[in-house]
Amino acid sequence: MQPKFKRWRLIGLLLSIAIPGLIACGEVAQQATLTTGEPAVPYIEPAFGEKLASGQALFGQYCANCHGQSGEGMGPFPALNDGMHAYSHPDWELISLIRDGKNSMPAFGSQLSEDEIITIIARVKAWWGPGKLSEQRQLCLISPGPTPTLMR
Ligand code: HEC
Repeated sequence: MQPKFKRWRLIGLLLSIAIPGLIACGEVAQQATLTTGEPAVPYIEPAFGEKLASGQALFGQYCANCHGQSGEGMGPFPALNDGMHAYSHPDWELISLIRDGKNSMPAFGSQLSEDEIITIIARVKAWWGPGKLSEQRQLCLISPGPTPTLMR
């Protein structure tokens, strides 16, 4: 798992440098999405309403101990809200991080269903402002990931 994450982290870093230049391409991709009505890749939309409430309940139960009730982070545990860089991961990477864990981030694959993981990610995205959301959406378009079937 490690080398794979390192590789994607490097790719992520390169992308974050390349993204300003790619935004034009991304906009073309998004336009294509808008005209066909079909997303180019599966993409988790930020939660609102009931989904936001159930996402927050799950987040409070499984994640808040380390990441804080508002995703503000604590000590060594990174913030997941708008202020930090959780948005620099495409959706597939967020899913596999939560499912499989990483370093001292525990794996939740045996406790949370895929739907629950997606609901939590949708909740986390609701903390992100429009700029970060669209940046992360570009990442999802550029990097649909090795396991696209995990997403819907
Ligand atoms: C025991 C503490 C702990 C719990 C509980 C925990 N995490 Fe984490 N989380 C971490 C640590 C530590 C990291 C940093 C991992 C690394 O990169 O080394 C992390 C990283 C992350 C990241 C990547 C952040 C970034 O900026 O790259 C996300 C997203 C995340 N956690 C989401 C979650 C979600 C969602 C849950 C609940 C299902 C959760 N975490 C539960 C400790 C925790």
